[in-house]
Amino acid sequence: MDFQLSADHVLLRDTVRQFAEKEAAPTAAERDEQMEWPGALVQRMGEMGLLGVAVSEEYGGAGLDYMSYAIIIEELSRVDASLGVIASVNNSLVCYGIEKFGTEEQKRELLVPLASGRALGAFSLSEPGAGSDAASQKATAVRDGDAYVINAIKNWITNGDHADTIILMAMTDASQGHRGISAFLVDTHAPGVSIMKVENKLGIRSAHSCQMAYDNYRIPVRRRLGEEGQGFKIAMTILNAGRVGIAAQALGIAQGAYEAALNYAKVREQFGQRIADFQAVGFTLADMATRIKAARMLVYETAWRKDQGLDFIKDAAMAKVFASETAMWTTTKAVQIFGSNGYSKEYPVERFFRDAKITEIYEGTSEIQRLVISRELTKE
Ligand code: CAA
Repeated sequence: MDFQLSADHVLLRDTVRQFAEKEAAPTAAERDEQMEWPGALVQRMGEMGLLGVAVSEEYGGAGLDYMSYAIIIEELSRVDASLGVIASVNNSLVCYGIEKFGTEEQKRELLVPLASGRALGAFSLSEPGAGSDAASQKATAVRDGDAYVINAIKNWITNGDHADTIILMAMTDASQGHRGISAFLVDTHAPGVSIMKVENKLGIRSAHSCQMAYDNYRIPVRRRLGEEGQGFKIAMTILNAGRVGIAAQALGIAQGAYEAALNYAKVREQFGQRIADFQAVGFTLADMATRIKAARMLVYETAWRKDQGLDFIKDAAMAKVFASETAMWTTTKAVQIFGSNGYSKEYPVERFFRDAKITEIYEGTSEIQRLVISRELTKE
């Protein structure tokens, strides 16, 4: 068993860290405040191969492993969790899904631009009435000759207003329940697809989450992903991989908040000494470092399992629930160590605190992760 990162992984980590610190950090607070989409940074991530990390080079990707993907999302999120989720959605919710389930034609036409950073992707499962209960889709796709006609209201679509391609789930046969759901590769520039609103959110504000409408949108049959009725299984399979990304995002947020709190505690003085030397603060820093280390082990081991071709459904859920709760706990404690300064936008910890919360919610709430884990445990 080797607990050390390879030289290639260390080089990758340092490269992404440098990019995040030099190019993203200076504008992160302002973009968060203004809900400003980081267009130039998304373009840079594409050029650096960060948007199609694990996609094979044949289809425009960087051809790296999932461990590399986890490290990249962690490093981006350590500085700016909005960049982390933009990249994570394109990588695992979109590119991974097309590479795994797409036809050769779909890969050539859609995956190549998505993986090489010339296009951006989004994933659309959630609806106003279908959150955790993802199978209760109201979106309909009705076959009409060589096309389907889609009518739907979808929400919480990360990247929605900047996406070129969206993997969308809709009912093709409601009588079949979850087995009546199919997946489609939506062209967002086509007539009938529109943005209803960009959510004004608590955190990850520079990454846009949209509500979208499909009004008699005609999509050619060749744009269906997988077989008719396979959509729910495709969505679940994609989310298994996506959860590794969100776990890595949570890990990066926790790491960023911990480092800020540690540095602050070493220079902030009260009662004639640096606050790091008060046992209450020192023990908090100790617990932060310990929980983060445990979260990192879970995230990396899950990525490693995926790279080995081992089953990782339960592991991804464990990594996500533990890393996201670590992020929430660590960022809360980081604000506390900063005291009233932690409550101010002058310092980064209040942003980390707000950003952490979503990791306990999207791509399956903590309750859903526990459901997945317990079902897998009792199945074994
Ligand atoms: N991996 C692969 N297959 C799975 C699976 C998994 N993790 N979970 C379920 N399935 C399969 C089952 O094997 C079953 O297959 P069969 O048809 O062969 O029987 C089928 O899916 C139905 O499974 P269940 O009977 O368990 O379905 P359920 O309705 O009881 O529960 C659920 C399913 C696990 C609760 C699921 O609905 C779920 O994961 N909900 C959370 C949804 C979610 O994560 N939404 C996030 C949306 S994306 C997002 O956040 C936006 C963004 O842009 C970031």
